[in-house]
Amino acid sequence: MNHFQYKDGELFCEDIPVAVIAQEVGTPFYLYSKATLTRHFQAFDSGFADIDHITCFAVKSCSNIAVLSLFSGLGGGADIVSGGELFRALQAGMDPRRIIYSGVGKGEEELRYGLKSGILLFNVESEQELLRLQKVAADMGVTAPIAFRVNPDVDPKTHAYISTGLAKNKFGIPIDEALELYVQAAEMEHIKVMGVSCHIGSQLTLISPFVEALRKVKAFVGRLAEKGIAINYIDLGGGVGITYDDEEPPHPQEYAKAIIEELGGLKATLILEPGRVIVGNAGIMVTEVQYTKTNRGGDKEKNFVVVDAGMNDLTRPSLYGAYHSIQPVQEKTTASQLVDIVGPICETGDFLAQDRVFPQVEQGDLLAVMSAGAYGFTMASNYNSRPRAAEVMVSGERFAVIRERETIESLIKGEAIPEFLEKK
Ligand code: LLP
Repeated sequence: MNHFQYKDGELFCEDIPVAVIAQEVGTPFYLYSKATLTRHFQAFDSGFADIDHITCFAVKSCSNIAVLSLFSGLGGGADIVSGGELFRALQAGMDPRRIIYSGVGKGEEELRYGLKSGILLFNVESEQELLRLQKVAADMGVTAPIAFRVNPDVDPKTHAYISTGLAKNKFGIPIDEALELYVQAAEMEHIKVMGVSCHIGSQLTLISPFVEALRKVKAFVGRLAEKGIAINYIDLGGGVGITYDDEEPPHPQEYAKAIIEELGGLKATLILEPGRVIVGNAGIMVTEVQYTKTNRGGDKEKNFVVVDAGMNDLTRPSLYGAYHSIQPVQEKTTASQLVDIVGPICETGDFLAQDRVFPQVEQGDLLAVMSAGAYGFTMASNYNSRPRAAEVMVSGERFAVIRERETIESLIKGEAIPEFLEKK
């Protein structure tokens, strides 16, 4: 259930017509519903209400500080993967004791920043990272709280680019080799072993891979106990999928129930890192039709709807062949035709939809690209020197721009023409 619904043929976000916002902020823009964000956060988090847990929102999925601040207010924490995401989380008022730091390539400066900020946990992904963290912590005269991210070699049955828990993926430490590292880390003066972490992939539509991964993690925690290493935190990562088209992912409560059951009475705080399941269907991208055209060749013809948002604004269709439902903001009764909905970028791979049955639209019509709240704006780029879109949040009858549209001047910020190129 989300708060993007038609009333009398017009798409609303909560109590405001989307067209009214477009009129004011221009297009393209991302639009988030506060009520939907809240509802989805609570639907997920409340599933774990009976056990010790922290819902650490995956900042990479939607990193605007207004969104982070909303989740912080709802008791959430943050799962970060860079110094930039840590900065955002702190700016949004997140409690550092609810921030965990994942990722295979943390730089020395980033580790220092995490330590200085007093975050809850570093999810360490290699022996070299462990050694670097020990050195940085020693330099600073502090102790680094860590979990190792173990790779359980479980098939999440999702898109190859977003599978992370298979042996062939770059993530984590093979679960069979991790024991040795735990023993090594437990003896390090500036490292405090606190947990075990894993993340097997994103957009999972089955519960069984999560349960299988947890079973392996649980067995591993047992082996650690035999070595006298106690674990306070079990981090199960993110990954619950959403409906873009006809997928039938588990309801978050169902997922929670299965996880709690598999945990049994294990005494540890559970950490979860959901992103997409909370924000995916709480955001849309709004774009305006610029042109319609038909290209003919031989006996073939192809219809195009050219809109003002491209693969630089929403890259998921181009990058993963991902499906996003697209709907006219004013409902149409015109005849349907087969179209590609494409952007202004100079690449054939620049499309939002291909071979889509779509009502006839015309220049100036607004289209809503649905399910764009996760990995939408955060993956946007300035390719083709296009300023990134605005972000807007709605609450009831009110809306606020939570990120201004970039300007063309901002595009060359930091660029310079060196002296040796200047004309004499
Ligand atoms: N934790 C870790 C360590 C992760 O790598 C990820 C996602 C998450 C949590 C959040 O997963 P979620 O709950 O959102 O599935 N750009 C891709 C998705 C990449 C996901 C990468 N890791 C897409 O647009 O589908």
